[in-house]
Amino acid sequence: MPLVGVLAALAWGATELVNRTARAWFEKDVSMRAALAVSGASDALVSHLAAGNRRRIGAVLSELARDDRIMAAAVCAPDLRTLARTGPLHPGQDCADVAVRLAGAPAGVEAFEHVEGGLVHLTVRPLEEDGKLLGWLVLVHDLSFVERREAAMLRFTAGAFAVVALLASFLTVAVRRLACRSWTRELRGLLAPGPVGPRRKPPKTFQPLLHDVRQLVSELAAEQGAGGRWSPERLRRVLTEHLQGEGIVILANREPYVHDRAPDGSVRVLHPASGLVTALEPVMRACSGTWVAHGSGSADHAVVDRKDRVRVPPGEDSYTLRRVWLSEEEERGYYYGFSNEGLWPLCHIAHARPVFRAQDFRHYQAVNRRFADAVLAEVDGPDPIVLVQDYHFALVPRMIRERLPRATVIAFWHIPWPHAESFGICPWGRELLEGLLGASVVGFHTQLHCNNFLESVDRHLEARIDRERQSIVVGGREALVRAYPISIEWPSRWVASAPPVQDCRREALEEFGLPPDGRIGLGVDRLDYTKGVEERLLAVERLLERFPHLVGRFTFVQLGAPSRTLIDRYRELNERLDALSARINARFGAGPSGRWRAVALLRAHHEPPAIFRMFRAADVCYVSSLHDGMNLVAKEFVAARDDERGVLVLSRFTGAARELTEALLVNPYDLEEASSALAAALVMPAEEQGARMRAMRAFVADLNVYRWAGRMLDDAARLRQKERLTTRLGPGPRAVQERLP
Ligand code: G6P
Repeated sequence: MPLVGVLAALAWGATELVNRTARAWFEKDVSMRAALAVSGASDALVSHLAAGNRRRIGAVLSELARDDRIMAAAVCAPDLRTLARTGPLHPGQDCADVAVRLAGAPAGVEAFEHVEGGLVHLTVRPLEEDGKLLGWLVLVHDLSFVERREAAMLRFTAGAFAVVALLASFLTVAVRRLACRSWTRELRGLLAPGPVGPRRKPPKTFQPLLHDVRQLVSELAAEQGAGGRWSPERLRRVLTEHLQGEGIVILANREPYVHDRAPDGSVRVLHPASGLVTALEPVMRACSGTWVAHGSGSADHAVVDRKDRVRVPPGEDSYTLRRVWLSEEEERGYYYGFSNEGLWPLCHIAHARPVFRAQDFRHYQAVNRRFADAVLAEVDGPDPIVLVQDYHFALVPRMIRERLPRATVIAFWHIPWPHAESFGICPWGRELLEGLLGASVVGFHTQLHCNNFLESVDRHLEARIDRERQSIVVGGREALVRAYPISIEWPSRWVASAPPVQDCRREALEEFGLPPDGRIGLGVDRLDYTKGVEERLLAVERLLERFPHLVGRFTFVQLGAPSRTLIDRYRELNERLDALSARINARFGAGPSGRWRAVALLRAHHEPPAIFRMFRAADVCYVSSLHDGMNLVAKEFVAARDDERGVLVLSRFTGAARELTEALLVNPYDLEEASSALAAALVMPAEEQGARMRAMRAFVADLNVYRWAGRMLDDAARLRQKERLTTRLGPGPRAVQERLP
């Protein structure tokens, strides 16, 4: 556009210049022609005037008017009567009118004028003999051709401009494409996997980012053409367009809504503290369908129908929650035992020893079968889409596959997958792998976990691993193994209903006995030993030790939801946290307000509105997991800060650290580093906070949970299509050949 603009201005300027010059030439030319005509005719006219021969005068004028350019000619007497003329003169050019013009011009008149037919040139010259005035010669030259030529010139220039503009635009685009192509080729060469030879060694500055850029480029390339940010609508579109609107069934142990009996006998609805629920609940609201889960609330029985179903969210009724009941013994063996004393510590590097009991695994198998049956009772046809979630149900994909060979089963493992060697200590590792490989797609948060899984299969099963396609073929069936980093809904519905940041802050400062310019640190977790809450409180203690001016002015608020408290390791954690926070608080006293505490350990279930108020009140949020698949608290904090303030200090051992690179990344075991990061967060200038927060918000907004689900469903849709085609087209030539005698 700027190029076209400049060309247009140039074309206009050039036309003006050419027109002016041409007009000056024409005018000069006509003046000269008029002078010539007058001088050529004046001798004859003077003699005829002297002789009083009007006929001869008329003949001379007719001779003059034979020139095409002369429109009219006249001879006037000295008293300005018309003696002879060739044709009608325009008003103002008749002998009578010429008087006015001659008033101050005894030597004659020369003028350019616009008349009805266009531009004309008027010449009035005296006819004299021996100084005596005998009359006047009036000549009118036609100049309308000048205007016609100007118009033609304008048309020509406009045409030429259009052609030049088109050519210039075409050339610009072509040059840009060529330049871009060679640039892309260079970048692609740099980013493409494969050996880095001496010629394609990337420049030093590129190296730290190379891995992330490669990943982003491949992800964006995969999404090219799909267009737009992922939203509930776009996710629904995927379901309708690619999966013929088929409803999905999600299987997850934890239910999205717990109906709980309050002390006064009423039933209240709670949102459980679970990253899995945080992520999947918005997906279900967008897709509808059925969520099959363990009914764990004290009033869960009271609200379901005869088929153990209840519509949720309460009041919105977007999808169905199907509850499965477990006996205490089953829960102890399957949930507390094998899942949380065995698999949980097996998959997390948090230095807790896994406990594997044969009895627990038997319960795990039986309960997996119960849930698989419940899923099969909920599906509609022979090829449903089932999303099997997390380590509680490793055996279910295979159980579903055995009953519905055409089902599309997506298994997602929400926690890390251990290194093959660590995985080897599980006595039932083989069963777990075979169970998971019943799925069409096995998903993890990171590529590292995918690699660990492929390695585990390689070591423990006889299967063909296709590392290029990232898939495993076992028993003639292929399962894709892919990384789908999980996320949260964007925009978060809890932010929309949260009070303004200033109000949240004022209330929190008041509640924790802090001065108006006090500072708040925040931790939000299930009380789990993998979350590094002890290390976090120790880092806070170190912070106050190193920066004593913060005593009385900084409180670390820990919202801790009690979790899995029947397990010794969790009970011990709670006791240790109580003792630790009491010791730290005793050490630093009650501050000038008398109500201040260094650490406020709020051990209770907190509903999302209360959590989001604290997110918005905090100066710094510290996520210190010792090992975490993703950690959605980090992303929720980012979502809560629509004021673009607040600093995230994040453990580098979380999946989130690979994405939220603008957080202050720390090793939570290193108390010096962690306390320095907390101190840096508390003095970080507002602009830097804003810049970091903006970048993280943009990232989470784009890579939200609808994208997570959409990408998995996209892959599932492609697989379904491939399987349907294979069924329709029959076996490939190789298989046919093998069957030939
Ligand atoms: C982790 C697991 C989830 C689980 C959540 C809460 O995030 O991956 O599957 O729901 O912890 O644990 P809980 O045992 O209370 O369900």
